[in-house]
Amino acid sequence: MPVGAPKMIFKQYLCPSMGSNIVIAIDGYSSCGKSTLAKALAKKLQFIYIDSGAMYRAVTLYFLRNNINVHDEFAVDEALKNIHLNFHSRDYETHITLNEEEVSEEIRHMPVSQNVSQVSALRVVRQEMVKQQQRMGRSKNIVMDGRDIGTTVFPKAQLKIFMTADPKIRAERRYRELYGKGEPITLEEVFENLAHRDYLDTTRHESPLARAEDAVILDNTGLTEEEQLDFALEKVKPLLG
Ligand code: DC
Repeated sequence: MPVGAPKMIFKQYLCPSMGSNIVIAIDGYSSCGKSTLAKALAKKLQFIYIDSGAMYRAVTLYFLRNNINVHDEFAVDEALKNIHLNFHSRDYETHITLNEEEVSEEIRHMPVSQNVSQVSALRVVRQEMVKQQQRMGRSKNIVMDGRDIGTTVFPKAQLKIFMTADPKIRAERRYRELYGKGEPITLEEVFENLAHRDYLDTTRHESPLARAEDAVILDNTGLTEEEQLDFALEKVKPLLG
């Protein structure tokens, strides 16, 4: 099945040279603070930060806007040919464009959150995204967060962290974030969305969310952002020699 290759261009600072490049994979449940930790780590280490979820979200946004039926294989293939994603990483924040349009804000809204698990469960979508992600980590020092980074995208990553936190705390954190942005939503809706996404992400056929055997578990329920960063930096130390 032919699939159009989304074009990924990184406008990035140079990575420090450390012999072979280092890949840090951060996986975990929805709204566990993966991106907060990944960004902080990347900033501290001057690595490139890649938010793999943003890619699935941008594809989902395209599907929603164009009424693509996820069960229609032909329509899905055609859609993928017409999707061109670009990352522009400034200040370690994710800036992603979908066919030249900046969609970084829109991909965080509920319509995308409610549909992204169905879209990201499609094999052709995953194959294409994984290919792009692997290309990004081939020669650069990166921190990538997602669901299958340590298991599928970079099974040989030098450091794998699997994040988890109490579901109620996760929902409260995400609710505060969305409420702060003016999203008309209740805490219950956020809780249900997270639970539903966790269920779909862990039970899907194609590279489900799972802890890689060699991943370090980080439960950040009672940790501050500084404490979780310290935890991760301790694990990174041996890699830096
Ligand atoms: O990290 P996030 O919540 O923004 O990711 C959105 C969705 O994308 C998530 O519910 C599952 C999917 N995803 C995935 O299947 N594989 C990844 N590597 C990253 C995200």
